[in-house]
Amino acid sequence: MTPEQVKLVQDSFKKVAPIADQASDIFYAKLFEIAPEVRSLFPEDMSEQKGKLMGMLATAVNNLHQVETIIPAVQDLGRRHVNYGVTADQYKPVGEALIYTLETGLGDDFTPEVKEAWVTTYVTLQKVMTDAAAEVEAKKPAEKKGFFARMFG
Ligand code: HEM
Repeated sequence: MTPEQVKLVQDSFKKVAPIADQASDIFYAKLFEIAPEVRSLFPEDMSEQKGKLMGMLATAVNNLHQVETIIPAVQDLGRRHVNYGVTADQYKPVGEALIYTLETGLGDDFTPEVKEAWVTTYVTLQKVMTDAAAEVEAKKPAEKKGFFARMFG
């Protein structure tokens, strides 16, 4: 990610921050429209969830210029998502809902350059999260094997 892209993402996020509540509504409505199968992963009452996503995005965006400082937190987030039942292929509709939300919220300010910078940001976060998640998944069968070996071996 170039320094220019970091600035585009940070500046455009500042414009979405004042309408964070509305942006969350747009995001989840779009997500559940394009990927209804993920609705059951979330609590019925979404009011708390909404602040969390925007809060984490804000932390990530504000620290993009020093991305190495947030990598461990993003890895932890990815590992926690395994426990929420999230799979790697579900990151795609979430990314699409995010881009749609920014497009709707920013209007003409969502230029092709801004869009590309956001796609790069999301893909980066996604990769860190799913790589960390894959490590958790890779460990699972070994633990299970150990358990069965201990029980029946
Ligand atoms: C860059 C991508 C993502 C970010 C920044 C993000 C952020 C968060 C945050 C901050 C939380 C609050 C809990 C915690 O900190 O552990 C959370 C929970 C959750 N996220 Fe994500 N998430 C992302 C991708 C996804 C994807 C792809 C899915 C799949 C549908 C998903 C589904 C969930 C679910 C089901 C919960 C738990 C809800 C609950 O039980 O309260 N997230 N996410």
